[in-house]
Amino acid sequence: MSRRIAVYPGSFDPIHNGHLDIIERCRPLYDEMIIAVLANETKKPLFSDAERVEIIAELMAGQPECRVESFSGLLVDYMESRGARVVVRGLRAVSDFEYEFQMALMNRRLDPNIETVFMAPADGYSYVSSRLVKEVFQLGGDVSALVPKLVERRLREKYGKAAR
Ligand SMILES: Nc1ncnc2c1ncn2[C@@H]1O[C@H](COP(=O)(O)OP(=O)(O)OP(=O)(O)O)[C@@H](O)[C@H]1O
Ligand SMILES: [Mg+2]
Repeated sequence: MSRRIAVYPGSFDPIHNGHLDIIERCRPLYDEMIIAVLANETKKPLFSDAERVEIIAELMAGQPECRVESFSGLLVDYMESRGARVVVRGLRAVSDFEYEFQMALMNRRLDPNIETVFMAPADGYSYVSSRLVKEVFQLGGDVSALVPKLVERRLREKYGKAAR
């Protein structure tokens, strides 16, 4: 039987507890999970592709069924190159739905073999986004319940001593 490989694509700039919750929920459902960091410099990320991959790799250490890579270009092409058929996406609220639904249907049009699976996070994480984490941190707010320690440390390094 072929291995069931799921790809979880996103910017992960930086990864937060909402993302990690989705990864935890998916892990038992697939033989392998690839966290695919979208390399998109036009979005002017806070962390470079290499930094985002490095942070996630450190968090996934000791979980051989999860690995992280960066990719660019069409997701469906990347998935084909990895032999993956399932895209995992998280749905926080109705606000995510329209965009996610469009993407799922577009990806299916581009490659009918690919299915998108939507996961709901724990309700405590339904308001967490990378954008908000960065904003709150920059303004001196406490993000310790929203991101792993490692990410908090990397945010502190990025923003310098001005932030907490
Ligand atoms: N708190 C969360 N709970 C569930 N799914 C989430 C959560 N945050 C992000 N996701 C999902 O993870 C995937 C990747 O999202 P993305 O990298 O855009 O993260 P983000 O937190 O939305 O970052 P940004 O604020 O930069 O858009 C998307 O499917 C997104 O809906
Ligand atoms: Mg987003």
